[in-house]
Amino acid sequence: MEIPLDSLCIKNLWQSLGHEVDQISQDATGYLAAFVSDGWIVLTGAQVADLNMALVHGISPQAWLEDSVNSFKTRKIPGVVFLTDSVSSFMSQAASDLGLENQGVMPHLARRSDLNTPEVATVDVSNYKDETSLRQAAQLQSNAFGYDLSELNMTLGGKVLDNPAVQLFVGRDCGRPVSTVMTIADGRTRGVWNMATDPGYQGKGFGSAVLARALNYSRQGCNLDHLLATQRAESLYRRFGFRPIGTASTFTWQP
Ligand SMILES: CC(C)(COP(=O)(O)OP(=O)(O)OC[C@H]1O[C@@H](n2cnc3c(N)ncnc32)[C@H](O)[C@@H]1OP(=O)(O)O)[C@@H](O)C(=O)NCCC(=O)NCCS
Repeated sequence: MEIPLDSLCIKNLWQSLGHEVDQISQDATGYLAAFVSDGWIVLTGAQVADLNMALVHGISPQAWLEDSVNSFKTRKIPGVVFLTDSVSSFMSQAASDLGLENQGVMPHLARRSDLNTPEVATVDVSNYKDETSLRQAAQLQSNAFGYDLSELNMTLGGKVLDNPAVQLFVGRDCGRPVSTVMTIADGRTRGVWNMATDPGYQGKGFGSAVLARALNYSRQGCNLDHLLATQRAESLYRRFGFRPIGTASTFTWQP
């Protein structure tokens, strides 16, 4: 299925990614966010690169790239910089020159929010937004991505629970939390974030069941779902109708 998106709409989607990650980062002790015409940066201060993100997509991207890297350097935190397709061809060398490490590309995938989801296994999935579920989600993300749990707990605070735009889903096997995902509404766009299944439970249908529940939950007026996919998850998302609308060239900074 083709998703008819013009370049303006894709630019808005890149900006939405920033608003989404901003909504789940605001309780972090090192929180800082800035949105400019050339991209955005959202920092939590965590010593985990993926929890400090910057995006570069504008018409004079060099200065924003340098500002972003300086923010990481000044705070002595690791971070991730995404270059969109509009700038990656001429900015990749500049990123390397600044000492960033090239991690390849992440597909930016999107689907219409009203698409039917495929058949999934019957799994107990809740969308309770309570402290216990949030801590269980953090533990699952830590297990699946290898992030330090205390750094994750530092970034995921009460504002996530209070924010009506954020939905949290946890799938359980005989009561044990095994898979999680979050959705974050930003206007007409819904972002899918932090999808994680405990390594011992991967490949058994839990992730699909949790994702189906999340996508079929109240759409909150959104008509487009999108996400940045890891390579191993892309085929799963494609089964749910997600299709590539671009790529993010991904660079990491380590202090
Ligand atoms: C991606 C992830 C959430 C999928 O959860 P899951 O519970 O294994 O998902 P399911 O069992 O419903 O589906 C498995 C699908 O993922 C793929 N897969 C990814 N990792 C797998 C693994 N370790 N074992 C088996 N299948 C795996 C399978 O190929 C299968 O693809 P298919 O849908 O084309 O058949 C899980 O592998 C994970 O936590 N990975 C690490 C974190 C990550 O990359 N998250 C995605 C962020 S965008």
